[in-house]
Amino acid sequence: MKWFGLSRVRAVKEKIDWNSPTPKHIAIMMDGNGRWAKRRGLPRSAGHYAGMQTMRETINMCHRNGIDSLTLYAFSTENWKRPKDEVDYIISLVGEFVQDTNVQELNENNIRVFFIGDISRFPEETQEAMRKVVGLTYNNSGLKIFFAMNYGGRSDILQAARSMLETNKGKEITEEEFERFLYTGQNPCPDLLIRTSGEKRLSNFLLWQSAHTELWFTDEMWPDFSEELFYQSILDYQNRKKRA
Ligand code: IPE
Ligand code: IPE
Ligand code: MG
Repeated sequence: MKWFGLSRVRAVKEKIDWNSPTPKHIAIMMDGNGRWAKRRGLPRSAGHYAGMQTMRETINMCHRNGIDSLTLYAFSTENWKRPKDEVDYIISLVGEFVQDTNVQELNENNIRVFFIGDISRFPEETQEAMRKVVGLTYNNSGLKIFFAMNYGGRSDILQAARSMLETNKGKEITEEEFERFLYTGQNPCPDLLIRTSGEKRLSNFLLWQSAHTELWFTDEMWPDFSEELFYQSILDYQNRKKRA
């Protein structure tokens, strides 16, 4: 994460009117870890490691600023096509995230963790680690984090359609009813979707859920996402809402 002078961060933060609309649910496509590493002559794994530190700091920023929900695109259904050692390394970072000290910090901050996506494709010990952190944070009532792991918007819609047909045989199908079967369930859809690294695609993220979401892009690579950019995205969101 890039740290700018406090005054620069404060200058952006002070422009936000917290009594006017601010995003309650933020979704982030944490993109650009590989390019960040390449530019420094480092292996891609170094980019993923740095990205994970930025992710932790971003979780804390959301917590400190009273954001309700944060959805993080961590691994897409397409990411299995990457070299096996890269996939294995990304998966191993899950183990790193669920270390006791980190889970303790989540609990101290009253943060509840969820996973969205088909996690059954991950190794049994990884699934175990995921279930463990979900269980250990189950009673927390503050910030909700949804980690999208082996998540794809299309497969989300398909799995929802399949389970709805199974459960609601012959019943009328409405948007509200359908939504209940998506991985995100009855949680509100994201208000703001951030993608780093200059790419301007949805890459199969939250296709149904982003129907009315404000999209916000930055050229910075994910490991360089900063507090200043975080506040800038909220300020831009607010200015768009004021114009609407
Ligand atoms: C995003 O960074 C992280 C994951 C997909 C897990 P990338 O690994 O896509 O980095 P770039 O886009 O190749 O730079
Ligand atoms: C999207 O980034 C997935 C995540 C951030 C986890 P990708 O780098 O995988 O997407 P594409 O390949 O640019 O569409
Ligand atoms: Mg990428």
